[in-house]
Amino acid sequence: MNSPWWREAVTYQIYPRSFADADGDGTGDLAGITSRLDYLADLGVDAIWLSPFYPSPQYDYGYDVSDARDVDPVFGTLEDAEALLKEAHELGLKVIIDLIPNHTSSSHPWFIDALAAGPGSPERDRYLFRDGRGPNGDEPPTNWRSVFGQPAWTRVSDGQWYLHMFDREEPDLNWRHPEVIEEFRSVLRWWLDRGVDGFRVDVAHGLVKALRDQRVPEGGEPNSDPAVMYEIGVDDDPMWDHPDVHEIYRDWHKVVSSYPGERMLIAEAWTRAPGDLRGYLRADEFEQAFNFRWLQSHWSAREFTDAIVSTLEALNPSRAWPTWVLSNHDAMRHRTRYGDGAQALARARAATLMMLALPGAAYLYQGEELGLPHVQLPPEHQLDPWAEGGNGRDGCRVPLPWSGEAPPFGFGPGDGQPWLPQPYQWADLTVAAQTGRPGSTLEFYRSALAARRRYAHGDKEVKFLDVPKDVIAFRRGRLTVVINCGATPTPLPRGDVLICSGEPLASELPPDTAAWLLSDE
Ligand code: NOJ
Repeated sequence: MNSPWWREAVTYQIYPRSFADADGDGTGDLAGITSRLDYLADLGVDAIWLSPFYPSPQYDYGYDVSDARDVDPVFGTLEDAEALLKEAHELGLKVIIDLIPNHTSSSHPWFIDALAAGPGSPERDRYLFRDGRGPNGDEPPTNWRSVFGQPAWTRVSDGQWYLHMFDREEPDLNWRHPEVIEEFRSVLRWWLDRGVDGFRVDVAHGLVKALRDQRVPEGGEPNSDPAVMYEIGVDDDPMWDHPDVHEIYRDWHKVVSSYPGERMLIAEAWTRAPGDLRGYLRADEFEQAFNFRWLQSHWSAREFTDAIVSTLEALNPSRAWPTWVLSNHDAMRHRTRYGDGAQALARARAATLMMLALPGAAYLYQGEELGLPHVQLPPEHQLDPWAEGGNGRDGCRVPLPWSGEAPPFGFGPGDGQPWLPQPYQWADLTVAAQTGRPGSTLEFYRSALAARRRYAHGDKEVKFLDVPKDVIAFRRGRLTVVINCGATPTPLPRGDVLICSGEPLASELPPDTAAWLLSDE
């Protein structure tokens, strides 16, 4: 592995509820993950990132944490977490865990104490409680909506309001409070002492707020979803990217870098433009920040080029290397974003192949290596608090199919059904069905990751080639990488085809396909 390990690592995101279920209760667990780590080592990834497994009432599927130093019984025990870490390290896999500092669960002892202690108490001061506006205080303190679309303030029985930028069961912490600051230092140490290699920091752009009304264009509505608000012209963001967040990360950097090994922090920071991520990537803050540009793009050479070029330009020149991600637990799977059926799968494979050639780190989301589509679930299975309007994130969280002809497809032992139903059609997409099958998406990912390890690293520079519209091609070291987003075949650049996401023709690249070519120059 290169040094530092994270710079060009491929990290595989595990959503613990939906990866593998060792105890057969229908929900994935840590023992299930440990039992499948050899699959991930064999796939050829360098690291895993675990979405939250902490005690939680699961209103937001674990992002509502009630104790950041333990494991929810549904996922196992602290010993299971330690066993997972040990086994992963023995297999040469690094382990990144999720840290959720913006909010706690409403079941966190601090919030329970805050409700009991009443207005003006030190307990309330750990959160963002405020009196309301209007004659009886019955208007919220600001006009904000939560990211999930509801009002961002909830009133409690004594008349005060508390802020929650996500679900109402996820009260926001007060990051001006010394106890909050000390608590998270201590949580970092708790997991660093147990050997974790890094933290994915949830909502890193949101910890400090300017509590004033959001200005909205005339006739518009307040909006706090960074994936949407800037697009629709709501560009006043008193809740995001406050300059004071950086002091917190400078402090954490000291904690993390005081440990041996190359421990790291990666920010989930939704900023207006890729260049704004630079602030988070200063030498004494985060090692990495997610770059969501490509994940937000449709199948289009123009959108892909924008995502790639703006990212590279934003970080160049700087010490920071980019990150790339096409799918995660919050977004429609890229296979489904690109259309339907076989064509969409071909496109997803092509985009992945191009992404894996770029300088920097790549993050894969569980199941993309199987070509899983986003599932349209019946209304009774749309459980996500963000699902209002019927379009939630459950569709990318359907449990993985491992083997067999019918659900639960080896997700758990026996016939017990998983927490979200798997489509019958997945019989053909299981790990067992795809292993060793020439041309399967799983074998394609294995080959692509092996080729990346061999040929796509070290060189930060990317040189774009002059190619027809709807095609993108670039050189990186000895590699030439080309993707055809158009409707007709395009000539292949010079070089020997090393790997192709589909079937290359003699001298042409078909539509919806990408290839890597190797040349000596
Ligand atoms: C971002 C996480 O990825 C998402 O799943 C969660 O709902 C919010 N942050 C709130 O923690």
